[in-house]
Amino acid sequence: MEKYLNRGIKEIIQEFPETGRILDAFNIGCTACSVGTCLLKDIVEVHNLPYEKEQALMLQIGRVIYPGVEIEVPRIERKAPAGDGTIRYSPPMRALVDEHTVIKRLLALIPRLTEDLDVTKGQDRQLVLEVVDFIRSYADRFHHAKEEDILFREFGDDLEILKSMLEEHRIGREHVRAVLEAAERGDTLSAKYHLTSYGQLLLGHIKKEDEILYPWMDRNLSTAQVGELFSRFVKTDEQFRDTASRQQEFVRRLEEKFNHEEVTSNV
Ligand SMILES: [Fe+2]
Ligand SMILES: [Fe+2]
Repeated sequence: MEKYLNRGIKEIIQEFPETGRILDAFNIGCTACSVGTCLLKDIVEVHNLPYEKEQALMLQIGRVIYPGVEIEVPRIERKAPAGDGTIRYSPPMRALVDEHTVIKRLLALIPRLTEDLDVTKGQDRQLVLEVVDFIRSYADRFHHAKEEDILFREFGDDLEILKSMLEEHRIGREHVRAVLEAAERGDTLSAKYHLTSYGQLLLGHIKKEDEILYPWMDRNLSTAQVGELFSRFVKTDEQFRDTASRQQEFVRRLEEKFNHEEVTSNV
């Protein structure tokens, strides 16, 4: 069993597909993770499994890997003690979760935005450009900059979970670039595809950060580190104050526009 603890979870799932179903049953979405470079031993700590759940999960996985063998489940060493499953964010992490709420409001509008989209029309193309501007200035330069330039740096460059998050930021930027290119050449199908893909990618990404990454980070940060993060975030907020309020206003107007269209089309 020990030798499997140091193997990548995707590799294990590939060799023993049943382990993917077991992880899903424990609400650990490794099969759906787009990068999935975590090791099996990282899973329990990153997902903050209580000890009884850790034992039950490892026992089930062990039985799949070594069928018919009486296995001894090792206790996985953790940096922080197991939690009780309740999420309590520190103030800087709470600020990031609140920014996610604004981003999710925009993402929720993508299905309606793409429904009748035609980027050969000036008005539709303009709307796509404004959405791209929101993504680039609010979601990326403001929010992802806080993550990449400040928060993630507290944990070094080697962590698989952070590599996976950075890879998703990169894939997101590629989708956004593709949306812009599609809008410029009047390719509605491609603009719709990349906007939808971006929305799906980011929704999953935010869920992982809110439910797994940030709580795990909070468990591993000292009080001094939390204080330092908070004051650096405040500086970033000041730097981006105008952008943040302009983009929040944009989301509000877009919600209003689509809600209004929905009401009038139902009359
Ligand atoms: Fe992120
Ligand atoms: Fe984020």
